[in-house]
Amino acid sequence: MPHKYHNFNTIIPEIESKIDALLAKMTLDEKVGQTVQVHINESNRKEMVEQLRNGQVGSVLTIYGVDNINAIQKVAVEETRLGIPVIIGNDVIHGYRTIFPIPLAESCTWDLDLIEESAHIAAEEATANGVHWTFAPMVDICRDPRWGRIAEGAGEDPYLGEVFGASRVRGFQRELSSGRKMVACPKHYVAYGGAEAGKDYNSVDMSERRLRDIYLPPFKAAFDAGAGTTMSAFNEINGIPASANRFTLQQILRNEWGFTGFVVSDWNSVGELIPHGVANGYKEAAQNAFLAGVDMDMVSGAYHRHLAELVSSGEIPETRLDEAVRQILRIKFMLDLFDNPYTDSINAEAAILKPEYLQTALEVTTKSMVLLKNQGDILPINTEEVKRIAIIGPLADDHHEILGTWHRIGRDEDTESVLDGIRELIPDDIEITHTQGCDLFGKRPTNTISAVTAAQKADLVIMVLGEAESMSGEAHSRAHLGLPGRQQFLLEAVHATGTPIVAVLMSGRPLVIPWMAENIPAILCAWHGGLRTGRAVADILFGDANPSGKLTASWPRTEGQIPIYYAHKNTGRPLGGVGGFQFQRYHFTEFIDEEVTPLFPFGFGLSYTSFEYSDLQVLTPKMSLDSTLKVRAEITNTGEIPGDEIVQLYVRDLVGEVTRPVKELKGFQKISLQPGESQMVEFEISVQRLGFHGLDMQYKVEPGEFKIWVGPNSAEGLEGDFRVE
Ligand code: NOJ
Repeated sequence: MPHKYHNFNTIIPEIESKIDALLAKMTLDEKVGQTVQVHINESNRKEMVEQLRNGQVGSVLTIYGVDNINAIQKVAVEETRLGIPVIIGNDVIHGYRTIFPIPLAESCTWDLDLIEESAHIAAEEATANGVHWTFAPMVDICRDPRWGRIAEGAGEDPYLGEVFGASRVRGFQRELSSGRKMVACPKHYVAYGGAEAGKDYNSVDMSERRLRDIYLPPFKAAFDAGAGTTMSAFNEINGIPASANRFTLQQILRNEWGFTGFVVSDWNSVGELIPHGVANGYKEAAQNAFLAGVDMDMVSGAYHRHLAELVSSGEIPETRLDEAVRQILRIKFMLDLFDNPYTDSINAEAAILKPEYLQTALEVTTKSMVLLKNQGDILPINTEEVKRIAIIGPLADDHHEILGTWHRIGRDEDTESVLDGIRELIPDDIEITHTQGCDLFGKRPTNTISAVTAAQKADLVIMVLGEAESMSGEAHSRAHLGLPGRQQFLLEAVHATGTPIVAVLMSGRPLVIPWMAENIPAILCAWHGGLRTGRAVADILFGDANPSGKLTASWPRTEGQIPIYYAHKNTGRPLGGVGGFQFQRYHFTEFIDEEVTPLFPFGFGLSYTSFEYSDLQVLTPKMSLDSTLKVRAEITNTGEIPGDEIVQLYVRDLVGEVTRPVKELKGFQKISLQPGESQMVEFEISVQRLGFHGLDMQYKVEPGEFKIWVGPNSAEGLEGDFRVE
């Protein structure tokens, strides 16, 4: 049975009539109330409930527990004059109670069905617990791993941003078993991921072309998938804060895209127009944001305090207020909140952590892990030969950091550590020792001697190293991307014993690990993989699962290479020279003290088997603008075990009226092959998807020559050509 998806980005005439009738009854204060979102905590509860009772609250965020939520809803529905329900929003980012891998990790599965499924499970659990609205997916493109929020997105590529973002929207907004609905909120509109120096909230200054070609498409895809809300970002764009930006909020979102849902600000981003320096106080901040198109004010209080007076004085037309209220009520009607405002508490507990959810979480986690190195096929661990294993490192028996940045109500006791996972899996005749060695932050003394002693007595060491969950995410940018604390010291000390090491790396971002990449034979990137991390790591290390994840963000060799991304532009002096001009070496675009290539490129990931690419056929070497590119290539599993391969298709537009990236991902397919099996993988890509924003800033596909690659990652592949006429 095909799934049914709710589309919240649409107009339904019967709902519009209901809104007309309700709007006609609303006072100015009640209208303003719909635009106000509040956070209720112990200290402000009395005041907020009173505000709610007066019809001056439209939404409440980050409250948990069905009884708590129903109590708030009761005030809205039974104690206000018009009984308009509140919409409850929460950050359900990578799971509600069943915590999945961080979104960056999840994107490394390149598996649209799984990505949709994990969002759907989160929606099942969250709605059964009273939540109507998730502040997800984050569809910000990020090309700077210093930025802590890279953890929350799908990496560096706009095409992946589109398809993964749309899949997550569909997952959240898919029909739920309870008949309830959830609405998604693609965020942060827009260009939040372009923060200078990767510092959170920082200024963004970019060309309109880059904005339109790279940063906007994932939002458009999410709205096309039916997302009914969006969140205006904290950052400024080209001098105008995103939460007061008429160009992005009106011109693009409403006029060009016809978005019919509502815009909520980010947390206090209306109030932050004051420190941004574009408003001289809350009143002016409210006016700027509201006139720009921010319909709901998340917690700043600026709308609550000033909108009514701004409308009464004529500084804000009442028609603009009516429009914002209409957009908010539209989503409330579509969510059926008027008919069904309460959540049945009987189902709340039963809806979480179902065995099938834990099984799906294990699948997502396993498929999100990326094997970065496997020299001499040291993995999977051969339990015939390896009888004594030392498990070392601050994350080896961790039950918390693995939950990742947005675990919210996820609990440590729901998790299994790597140590648990390995103990559960390995045969009895294998001897395991566990030593922490050092802490994550370098705050406590390192117990190097016990780690080294354990390593000396072992046939193999598994070192579980990396970041704490609090080292990525909002306001957690890093300038140094190596192993934190004393972990590098510990790693080198253990390495000096000569016992072979398998490194399991956990992080919320790409790390800078040149020494490890050179000296340690096997490296598994396990990210912050959620509650099933331990079992997934064990399955991969001991060969019960074959790794298949591929990176969705480049891993730099050093912080000085950042920003680093595969789809960069050529320069006039690319490496190797052009057109017969051979420059002196130092005239090329490179560093004098570092390679220009990443340590691990976008799209990269190893398997325990090997795949061969052959026989690239461009079936449509000449095409018109309205036709479809057809390409195929044969992929063969040349190894000895079954495996999954993510086959990637890249193109390059060789000559354009504006410069074009050296490669752009335009398609991928994930296939499963038995040993010795071959498959002809076919791609069909509409020529209309090969365009860009030209000199006149209109989207266009230009006739001309293109290159194409089909390969296992962004740095390798079979090469062909085609022409658009
Ligand atoms: C601030 C974050 O930037 C945003 O992503 C989140 O949804 C809100 N806080 C609400 O918690």
